[in-house]
Amino acid sequence: MKNKNVADLDYCKLSLRNEYAALMEKADSCLSLSELFARDPERGERLRCQAAGLTLDYSKQSITDEVFEELLKLADSCQLPRHINKLFGGDIVNLSEDKAALHTALRTPAEVLPDELGMISAELDKLAQLVFKIQQGVWRGFSGKRITDVVNLGVGGSDLGPLMVSHALDEYRDEGGKNLKVHFASSMDGSQLFQLMEHLAPESTLFIVSSKSFTTIDTLSNAQTVRDWLGHYCSDEAMLLRCHFIGVSANRNRMTQWGIHSENQLEFWSWVGGRFSLWSAIGLPIALSVGVFAFRRLLAGAFQMDLHFRSAPLAENLPVIMALLGVWNVSFRDIRAHAILPYDGRLKFFPSYLEQLEMESNGKSVTQLGEPVDYMTCPVLWGEVGTNAQHAFYQLLHQGTQPVVSDFIIAASRYDGPVQQPHQDALLKQHDLNISNCLAQSRVLAFGAGEQPGLLNSFRHYPGNQPSSTLVLNRLEPESMGALIAAYEHKVFCQAVIWGINPFDQWGVEQGKEVAVKLQSILQPGYDGSEPVDSSTQALAALIRQQRNKK
Ligand code: F6P
Repeated sequence: MKNKNVADLDYCKLSLRNEYAALMEKADSCLSLSELFARDPERGERLRCQAAGLTLDYSKQSITDEVFEELLKLADSCQLPRHINKLFGGDIVNLSEDKAALHTALRTPAEVLPDELGMISAELDKLAQLVFKIQQGVWRGFSGKRITDVVNLGVGGSDLGPLMVSHALDEYRDEGGKNLKVHFASSMDGSQLFQLMEHLAPESTLFIVSSKSFTTIDTLSNAQTVRDWLGHYCSDEAMLLRCHFIGVSANRNRMTQWGIHSENQLEFWSWVGGRFSLWSAIGLPIALSVGVFAFRRLLAGAFQMDLHFRSAPLAENLPVIMALLGVWNVSFRDIRAHAILPYDGRLKFFPSYLEQLEMESNGKSVTQLGEPVDYMTCPVLWGEVGTNAQHAFYQLLHQGTQPVVSDFIIAASRYDGPVQQPHQDALLKQHDLNISNCLAQSRVLAFGAGEQPGLLNSFRHYPGNQPSSTLVLNRLEPESMGALIAAYEHKVFCQAVIWGINPFDQWGVEQGKEVAVKLQSILQPGYDGSEPVDSSTQALAALIRQQRNKK
């Protein structure tokens, strides 16, 4: 890793850049989407970018060619290409923690990795061996039975990425993966675990304790609960630890202290951010489900997006365009809500994965140099499978008072691929129905519908002019999934560069964790009132203690 070079601290407030005022002015005189399309019949064809099996249609974004040019100038003035090189070159890009962010190295083929990063391939090989042993039944539980169930215990980046991808690629399970059920438990209250423990057989269940820091209380409390649970069935603790726990962490010492057997430890490194870690050994649940071959295909797809991102000119660079559109919408047009709408049940967990990726990364209000910003940064991001969301929150998108930008995500082909489906014809029809719903929704959001408002028909009026992008995957497969995730990762990085903020720290979250530890004592029955807390927290804790006494 390279040293921080103070001369490189070229982050500054977006509002101090020359392009800021020009873009603000343009945002004030924005044409409606209907007008933009009326003026340019080629717009739908023109505003499109393709890379690594993905097509981004951004014709329904409220931008003109002049705005786009100005946004590109802004990216230039922020020296975006130089920052991209620094990211990939292992420079210190996370200034507050003095760290590089080299998640892209995790998906770089071994042949082109620099020698000093050789440990990445070694760890991937170790992961492959573990997967083989578990899938093939070489790995046995304490009673000698093969493993039938694996539970990933982790939270945040140690849960959302593997959960999301395992679900998305479920149809690509290999033979070994079909013998295993992979489960996820993240909630600190133990409720997910509780449900699992009701059904799982301890002797054939393996737990992955996944935690970059190996200090996160959510994960460690779940891990302790299952350790105690297993202890009821087998009194040989050393055997339990050897046969039923794998640890994945950047903190080997902590894994060892907890009791993870050295051969069962998979390591990654402090320069991989938690929310960027699914490409590391944190991806073990993915490899267990779909096999190591498909896991490597996922990495290969992400690498293709990396190559594009590093080499394509800014005006044709898919993640850069996504980033610029985002900056335009939130910082200049004041659109503070961003909906993620995959029209594909396999991408059910993609919105929650992106919530962490985007909001934990860019939910910041000071620059890399610690100065407060005076413009909007990350919008509120949320989402749902599109067709379900249509019956939940689309009403607000169509007729509410909030401007909302949306990302629609679809796979062009489905059910006709290498994996044969039963009832294929019916499913193909359903896929078309699904896609037509997606197209219909983005269209109505953009152009509106219904009569002009009048006394009687104003309820039926859809004003339109809600911007959106549509991301089309040729097919949802390991490579395109990898490319899709990498595109969003790079989008987040580019936005951070333009906003002048650090996307790789999360100090706000750390604070909450510390406060929670301090507050544990105030729930205890004999609490002596010694903790200096506000009256609301004090009263709530008293109420909880009282309610507990009643039963
Ligand atoms: O929620 C904050 C956070 O620090 C995330 O950034 C991280 O992904 C998550 O906690 C889990 O952390 P760890 O992997 O260290 O248990």
